[in-house]
Amino acid sequence: MRTLILLGLVCALSAPLAYARAIPDPTQRHAPGNEQAQKEIARAGYSVGVNYQLQCAGCHLGDGTGSAANDTPRMKGFVGNFLKVPGGREFLVRVPGMSQSALNNAQLADLLNWLMRKDGMAGQSVPADYQPYTAEEIAALRASTMLNLPGTRGELIKAMRAKGIAIDDGMNY
Ligand code: HEC
Repeated sequence: MRTLILLGLVCALSAPLAYARAIPDPTQRHAPGNEQAQKEIARAGYSVGVNYQLQCAGCHLGDGTGSAANDTPRMKGFVGNFLKVPGGREFLVRVPGMSQSALNNAQLADLLNWLMRKDGMAGQSVPADYQPYTAEEIAALRASTMLNLPGTRGELIKAMRAKGIAIDDGMNY
């Protein structure tokens, strides 16, 4: 019993020292050649492809294949189909990965237009009358939250099925 009390006392007394070690060293300097503060991605001026790799590929994978195991649908060869049903155009901007990304409106418009290229990820799924997204359209759409994402997506998929579109989104349902 006595040993336990002593042990508890030692732990309580040494805890502040352990915490102190976790405080960042205030005298620490940047590594040589790395002194400049990082520019946020919305002002960094990266290419569309780099923005995709940095902001989207972690979930959607480099080529847009997605991953059913992580609930991430396939965009490759499929995502353009959303533009063929009412509400789909808005949905593509309101998904959290888009609307809440650190990219600005113009960057998101460029990114979506890049995804929708016939020689890009959406490929043949893009409708022939595709109208490019503008920064203004993105600004308006991303500001209004989608409250029921699975329900909204489910309705859109149903509307695609009704049009005879093959649901090749890799999600197995
Ligand atoms: C944290 C993981 C994650 C990140 C990061 C992410 N997404 Fe997504 N994305 C998803 C998931 C999961 C879905 C399915 C709908 C949902 O649950 O949000 C989705 C859906 C989409 C859709 C609609 C397609 C569909 O079939 O539902 C588009 C378009 C999209 N994402 C684009 C992007 C873009 C562009 C980026 C980068 C700016 C991005 N996403 C970042 C996980 C992510």
